[in-house]
Amino acid sequence: MSASPHVLEDPPVAAGTGRFAIRGGFDLPPLWTLDEISGPIRVGSEEHKQLFCRMLLDTFNPYRPAVIAWPRLTEPELARLRSLPFWDMAIETEGNASLRMQAMSESCSDPIIREAIALNAYEEKRHKVVLHDMVSFYGIELAPEPAYLRPSDPQYFFLRTGIGECLDSFFAFGLFSLAKSSGFFPPALVEVFEPVIQEEARHIIFFANWQAFEAARCGPIGWARFRARWLRALLAQARSRLKVAKSVDKPRLASRDTAGYADQTNFTAASREKVGVAIKPRAFMDLCLAENDRRFAVYDPRLLRPTLMPALVRAARPFVGRPAAA
Ligand SMILES: [Fe+2]
Ligand SMILES: [Fe+2]
Repeated sequence: MSASPHVLEDPPVAAGTGRFAIRGGFDLPPLWTLDEISGPIRVGSEEHKQLFCRMLLDTFNPYRPAVIAWPRLTEPELARLRSLPFWDMAIETEGNASLRMQAMSESCSDPIIREAIALNAYEEKRHKVVLHDMVSFYGIELAPEPAYLRPSDPQYFFLRTGIGECLDSFFAFGLFSLAKSSGFFPPALVEVFEPVIQEEARHIIFFANWQAFEAARCGPIGWARFRARWLRALLAQARSRLKVAKSVDKPRLASRDTAGYADQTNFTAASREKVGVAIKPRAFMDLCLAENDRRFAVYDPRLLRPTLMPALVRAARPFVGRPAAA
């Protein structure tokens, strides 16, 4: 990581060919599959590890934040952008995610997992730089950035970050689609963020497979210990999420956790109404489920998909409101 929080260094590995990059517009990248390995793959096997690591490395999108042409916005569009309460939290979340992933990468002994997580850390830093460039360009005022703390326990905080991204992204995919279809953001601005959103789909597929791989490689005691850590991380994220949901309209960064981190929690769900579209909760759930499936569909079907949020939402759906009128 560079010393400057807003300067992006070169990618840590010679990842990707750009073939799976988004070429502008809102189309998803082409289907990625690992053709060298044929047939079904056992979770925890060497082939499984190659599959989920190569997915992240091969589908790297080599865009540079510095060359983004930020579109000119009208005054009402600018006012809407400035009214959103979460820009400093979003930047801080990306900063923490990058640092946590970098620490995890450095603690990994397996070369290809290490390489893939280092790339993930780079992409989180790139998200932070994109957001920082955007708020600078549009003159959005931010609170001073905190000092980022290197995690003392890389695996636990990697679990926290990965679980947080799975929770966040589920709603972010739906919210992004809503912002796009409603015209809340001008299409040119939405287009800038399309690769960032698709990167989160890659990250959470990687994480879902990494954690299943790690669990499958342990003996029974190791498995229980790993799952207990996972559960502890999940509960910590759920607590932080509730805190953010309560504080979304309060002053910025009300949701730092006890370790002083602005957490990787889902302020997107609590911000549904901020995109200015009347959508019933059940219709929003359906949109999120559909967007999750759509974004995951371009990666090898043998990869595991994150299942927690889709399962929870499918279970809750019959009890939430009524379907939106056609
Ligand atoms: Fe990110
Ligand atoms: Fe991410």
